[in-house]
Amino acid sequence: MDNRTGSRIPGFYNLSLEERLAELARRAELSSEDIATLSGSSGLTVAQADHMIENAIGLHALPLGIGLNFMINGRDVLVPMAIEEPSVIAGASFMAKLAREGGGFHAHTTPPEMIAQMQILNVTDLATARLAILGQKDSLLAEVAEIDPVLEQLGGGPRDLEVRQIGNSPVGPFLVVHLIYDVRDAMGANALNTAAERLAPRLATLTGGRVHLRILSNLADRRLARSRCTIPLPKLAFEGYSAEEVRDGIIAAWAFAAVDPYRAATHNKGIMNGVDAVVIATGNDWRAVEAGAHAYAARSGGYTSLSTWGRDAQGNLVGTLEMPMAVGIVGGATRVHPTARAALKLMGVTTANQLAEIIVSVGLAQNLAALRALATEGIQRGHMSLHARQVAIAAGAEGETIERLAQQLVIEKKVRIDHAIAILNSWKAAKS
Ligand code: MEV
Repeated sequence: MDNRTGSRIPGFYNLSLEERLAELARRAELSSEDIATLSGSSGLTVAQADHMIENAIGLHALPLGIGLNFMINGRDVLVPMAIEEPSVIAGASFMAKLAREGGGFHAHTTPPEMIAQMQILNVTDLATARLAILGQKDSLLAEVAEIDPVLEQLGGGPRDLEVRQIGNSPVGPFLVVHLIYDVRDAMGANALNTAAERLAPRLATLTGGRVHLRILSNLADRRLARSRCTIPLPKLAFEGYSAEEVRDGIIAAWAFAAVDPYRAATHNKGIMNGVDAVVIATGNDWRAVEAGAHAYAARSGGYTSLSTWGRDAQGNLVGTLEMPMAVGIVGGATRVHPTARAALKLMGVTTANQLAEIIVSVGLAQNLAALRALATEGIQRGHMSLHARQVAIAAGAEGETIERLAQQLVIEKKVRIDHAIAILNSWKAAKS
């Protein structure tokens, strides 16, 4: 998608489902097949699922929505988000609109380098064994380079070998070898695990030890995605809140997460609301991204916020987010799952790094949405009106009655299923 069409679609929320899909098709040049897939009327089949996992019996659906207003590195992107929680997509879209006013999101990534770990037990002399491995580094790297010639052609492949000495553990001392591997546009788990298993016999011979675990690390701290946004101060004012009040409230809310792990866990969960929604929509491994995020948040020894919020010289609000982002656009479910393929097409991403830049920006927008609400009116007001729709549906409302009933529940400040049923019954009785 290009900037002529853009990611701003005023009134998208009020369009019918069909109209929204038509708008997407127009803006992102999607085929009717892509649209059918995104809408859920076609997509992954049970037969395909049967080839993906064991004991398959069916499919499990999630709502898929579009994050609007995102401008990332000067490019407009419509962001597919798969999530069951209300408020998330609305929050991210609204914050992306504010961020646009300050130039949008500026994102970048480090090279897509992942780490595979090999644990070597029963080593008599750790220091000597370490040097034995490092002395053969070039030939060890050359050996794993042969594993995937395609990746090599694309500019990926093994980059480095590091050896760590663990002097003390419940099973005594051991060595840990890290293979650094550039996986380009793949998530990389298969390439890494294959490489780790390939190296094991030579490492055993070199050290005289026994190679035990051979597996990638989800603390992908060499494959980072970073995003920054600036919200112009005047844009922060709303209702009875001054811009300064909102800005300083957001910064104070961030400071809480920066120093307190109890708050940081919730703060980072808010970031992951946005991150996971895109990771899932694109068929990526959200457990890997979650594991990497939280381990990275604890890298200093204490668990802290993944984001930062502060002010620039002009008093504008500035946010940053940095986190590991092990996502791919080739291989695995990203290729097999039709919705994941259509989601990638919608965003027009051509590299895994571009996808990572979008995801980290959505995480930052989501974090801002939560902090802005928490620092001012609290999250329940916005949350409740969306939650009320779910309660209305659960109570049996259909069609236009859903919105009417939801509004009534919010007005009466009783967003409860029993009350929703009672209202529905009273409306039915009045009609008959
Ligand atoms: C809810 O899903 C996410 C929040 O709790 C995040 C936060 O507290 O920052 C609102």
